[in-house]
Amino acid sequence: RKPQNHILVIFGASGDLTKRKLIPALADLYHQELLPENFAVLGLGRTELSDEQFRDKMSDGVKEFASKKEREHNDFLDQLYYYSFNTKEGSEYEGFRNRLEELDKEVGSEGNFIFYLATPPSMYPLVPKFLAEQGLNKSDSGFRRLIVEKPFGYDLESAQQLNCDLLKYFHEEQIYRIDHYLGKETVQNLLVTRFSNGIFEPLWNRNFIHHVEVTSSEDIGVGGRGGYYDDSGAMRDMVQNHLLLLTSLVAMEPPTLVNAESIRNEIVKVLQSLRPIPKDKVEDFVIRGQYTESKVRGEDVKGYRQEEGVDPKSRTETFVAMKFFIDNWRWAGVPFYIRTGKMLPTRVTEIVIHFQPTPHHLFSEDKEILRQQNQMVIRIQPDEGLLMKFGMKVPGAGFRVQDVNMDFHYSELGDTYLPSAYERLLLDCMLGDPTLYSRGDAVEAAWKFIDPILKAWKENPCIKVHGYPGGTWGPDVSDDLIEGNMTWRYPCKN
Ligand code: BG6
Repeated sequence: RKPQNHILVIFGASGDLTKRKLIPALADLYHQELLPENFAVLGLGRTELSDEQFRDKMSDGVKEFASKKEREHNDFLDQLYYYSFNTKEGSEYEGFRNRLEELDKEVGSEGNFIFYLATPPSMYPLVPKFLAEQGLNKSDSGFRRLIVEKPFGYDLESAQQLNCDLLKYFHEEQIYRIDHYLGKETVQNLLVTRFSNGIFEPLWNRNFIHHVEVTSSEDIGVGGRGGYYDDSGAMRDMVQNHLLLLTSLVAMEPPTLVNAESIRNEIVKVLQSLRPIPKDKVEDFVIRGQYTESKVRGEDVKGYRQEEGVDPKSRTETFVAMKFFIDNWRWAGVPFYIRTGKMLPTRVTEIVIHFQPTPHHLFSEDKEILRQQNQMVIRIQPDEGLLMKFGMKVPGAGFRVQDVNMDFHYSELGDTYLPSAYERLLLDCMLGDPTLYSRGDAVEAAWKFIDPILKAWKENPCIKVHGYPGGTWGPDVSDDLIEGNMTWRYPCKN
C-alpha cells in the first residue's frame, strides 16, 4: 500500500538530522517505490538556500547515509524544495503558507501535509501555534500530521506542558512522537518473538523469569554534542525514552489486536506500573557515572569534562545503571536491571531474560548455580538476532554441564533488507499509522517514574557521580545492584 499524495514539510531542514537521517531514509523509500506518485519535501530554515543548494547539500547526505548508495538519486533529489524564513516569527508564516499552497498545486499533493519538527525543542510550542494561525493544522479535505522529535520535555512538568501546547492545536491522532528505537526492526521483532511463539509466553512471568537485564551501550563519547548532552545526561537522553520503551515491550501483556490503540494501551500500562524509587533511596537503586580520561585500544581519549561544550565541573551522568520493579500481576518481585552509557567497551543493545534456576542442582559437578540458569539474549543491535543459552552434558565420564548456545542471526536470512528506523517510521506516518510512535500519556508516565530520581540528584549533592575510565563497563559499584552472586552480562563475550 502506498501513502496518499502529500508534502513533507521539515522545520530545521538545514540541521544534521535532516541530512543524516530523514533525507537518506526518504531516498531509500523512493528507491523501493514506497513514496506516493505526487510527493515533495519542503525544507524550511533560517539559512538562506536555493532549491538547488538544498538539493546539493542533501545529495551529500544521501551518498553518505542512504542504504542504497549505489543508486542514481537525481530523480529523488528533484522532489526537494527549500523555503527560507524565520520560523520563530509568527508574522512570517503567511509567506510560508503561500509557498506551500503554490507547491501543493505544482506537485498535486491534494492539500495533504506532514509537518516534521526537526528543530530545537524550544520551537515545539511555537510552530503548532503559528501553523494554526495560518489554518494549516486542520483541513476538511486533506490530512495534517505533526511529527515531533525527542526530547518530549525536560521533566514531568515540562512534558505535561508540551503535551498541552501540542494538543491546543492538533489532536492526539495527528501527533506522531518519534522514539526511533520503536522503528528498529529487531525491537518490533520482540513483539513477534513473544506473541507468535507458543513456547515463550507461558514462561514469560514471575514464576519462570528470575530477572531481566537491558543494556544499551555506546563506545563513543558525546562528540560534538557536548552542549546538548551536558543539559540532558544519560537518564533523559536514553533511559526516559528508549530503555523504558524496550522494558515495556518485554513486559507488556499481549495486545488484543495489532493496532495503535491496543499496543499503545499495553505499553502505557507497564509504564504506569513502575514502582516509584523513593527519593531518599535513590542510591540503592540507581548508579550514575561519568567517563574519565583514559586509553582506549591504545589511544588517548578525553574525559567527559574535557569535551567541547561541557562544563569542566559538570556532574552530568554519561552512565546510568538501575534496578526497579514492575508492580503488576505478571512481574511482582522480578527485578529489572537497565544500563546505558557512553564510552563503554562496545556498541550493543540487548535484552537478557534470565530464567529461574532449576529447583535442585542435580549434577554435583556443576558448582556454579549460574550454569543452570537459562538465558535468552535478544540482540537489538548490532549483529541482530536471538541467542538461547542452556546446559548440555560435556561428553565423557561423569555428568559435567556446560553452557551452549542456540544462536540466530538476522544476517542468516540472506540478503534480506533491514530498513532503517527512520525509513519505517516516516512511512508509517505517511500511511497514517501511529502504532510505532509514542503516545502522550506514555511519555508522561515515563517521566513520572524518572522525575523523582532527577530531583534527588539535583537536590542532594552527596549522591555520587562515579568516575569510570572510558573503555570500561562503567563504575564497579553498578555490579552491586544485582542481587546474589550474579553480574551483568558482558556482551563482548557470548
Ligand atoms: C539518541 C540519543 O536518541 O539515541 C543519542 O540522543 C544516542 O545520544 C542514540 O547516541 C543511540 O541510538 P542508536 O540507534 O545508535 O542506538
